[in-house]
Amino acid sequence: MKLLDGKALSAAMKLELAEEVRQLTSSTGIIPHLAAILVGDDGAAQTYVGNKVKSCAEVGFKSSLIQFPNTVTQEEIIQKIREINTDDSIHGLIVQLPLPEHISEQKIVEEMAPEKDVDGFHPINLGKMALELPCHLPATPYGILMLMQRGGVVTKGKHCVILGRSHIAGSPMSILLSRKSEPGDCTVTLCHSRTPDIRKHTLQADILITALGRPGYVTADMVKEGAVVIDIGITRVKADNKSGYRIVGDVDFEHVAPKCSMITPVPGGVGPMTIIGLLTNTLSSAKNAANKR
Ligand code: GUN
Repeated sequence: MKLLDGKALSAAMKLELAEEVRQLTSSTGIIPHLAAILVGDDGAAQTYVGNKVKSCAEVGFKSSLIQFPNTVTQEEIIQKIREINTDDSIHGLIVQLPLPEHISEQKIVEEMAPEKDVDGFHPINLGKMALELPCHLPATPYGILMLMQRGGVVTKGKHCVILGRSHIAGSPMSILLSRKSEPGDCTVTLCHSRTPDIRKHTLQADILITALGRPGYVTADMVKEGAVVIDIGITRVKADNKSGYRIVGDVDFEHVAPKCSMITPVPGGVGPMTIIGLLTNTLSSAKNAANKR
């Protein structure tokens, strides 16, 4: 069993990104700049955005964190997005999800200029992705593609089973792996809450990708011998340690790992690669801005 170590790969890829930033800045004077909007005081969201901001500094990007209280109106966020859309010094923008119930995630995402939407959530980016046109790919699926490619996961002709049809993980992952590309060329089965007998499908999977947010859902009896297992689930559960919580995935790692040819750990698998997807999109946005001058 080989560990698909997203933590180690993300550290190596940050060094590569930092070198690309040095070259871009020395030849054009442009410093890639990511703006992140965070609404409310949810601890998990604060941690995720904090990691993204810290990662920007590690690769030589600028970053701006814009925080709003839970009581902010949709209009106030839209105003801020419009400001950022027209600010040439900012190349990438993310709005951390989820948002409070009185704010429409769809309206917020649609306000963002597609070329600055470095999470790849805008309908224009998702449409271009499906049409195999150049665009910002959704950050988590993009990070997973890089992890598969660098980790030597063969995808061509394989049967990939995905659990979960969220717009930010399962659904785009299913489109990306069925595209005529490398990684890609998979036969994809997308399972969701209305799929009967999910185990029947997972047992057929050469590559099993799970994005449910249900700790320990995937047990050893659901996995084929020699499968590649990728766990997108990130759930905080209470723990008796300093932080008061620990992060767990959808896969019962201890019992599933011995059956796998490759598997991602949680934490340290997909999570750090989401940030690489985000940074890669932001760098490409900054390069596009440089080419337009
Ligand atoms: N919430 C959970 N995952 C993500 C992500 O990749 N980007 C944003 N903006 N919010 C999220």
